[in-house]
Amino acid sequence: MQLLFLGDIVGRSGREVVKKQLPQWRSKGVDFVFANGENAAHGFGITKGVAHELRDMGIDALTTGNHVWDQRSFLQDINDIDFVCLPANLPTQQPGRRHMIVERNGKRVGLFCLLGQAFMADKVSCPFEMASKKVAELAPLCDAIVVDFHAEATAEKMALGWHLDGKVDLIVGTHTHIPTADARLLPKGTAYITDIGMCGSYDSILGFNYDTILQKALDGLPRKHTIATENLKLSGVLVSIGKQNAIQLIF
Ligand SMILES: [Fe+2]
Ligand SMILES: [Fe+2]
Repeated sequence: MQLLFLGDIVGRSGREVVKKQLPQWRSKGVDFVFANGENAAHGFGITKGVAHELRDMGIDALTTGNHVWDQRSFLQDINDIDFVCLPANLPTQQPGRRHMIVERNGKRVGLFCLLGQAFMADKVSCPFEMASKKVAELAPLCDAIVVDFHAEATAEKMALGWHLDGKVDLIVGTHTHIPTADARLLPKGTAYITDIGMCGSYDSILGFNYDTILQKALDGLPRKHTIATENLKLSGVLVSIGKQNAIQLIF
């Protein structure tokens, strides 16, 4: 099976580039499309409307991250949405699905996401323990398992790669919004990449206009961040899952 996993979709610019470019990937025979949607609404969080907009573009399921609750309406709306995954290691008191099984063309793919603990402020449990728990739960029910590790530190992401090698089919890193050059198969066959980047403007900082962020770096004063609109790119990985997995960065 062929699977496309897209990095954090940032604001309207990210949604536009996905809308424009996703149909050509679908027409090439991609079976499953997943994406991280934590920045899809104005760069901060996601709403019910935006989630459905992305679904209508051809994305089967969305993962999230530390920005998942930036749009407070989503705390209520998540209960009505069955195609968005919350990080599995957030406190259980928070609403939302912690994994999903997506079925297409007779194949079942288990999907979950996790938040990292290094240099992240979120209240989460150990991502390694939760990963093992989710894999044990999903393995008997699925043909493949896909994990989005939303984390800052490359070492923590690589550690999860080694922890799950041979136990899942794909691990993608997200959150830094910058793609890394290490897409590879780990020794036991798991396809791995430290970060798949973002869908949005690359004449930016993290998808936002760089001038206000640069000014803040210079004078330390807070400013409103707005979505950048130039040099839009789709970034993610194209993965084949079968006897021999394969992974390729799309950028
Ligand atoms: Fe993000
Ligand atoms: Fe993030």
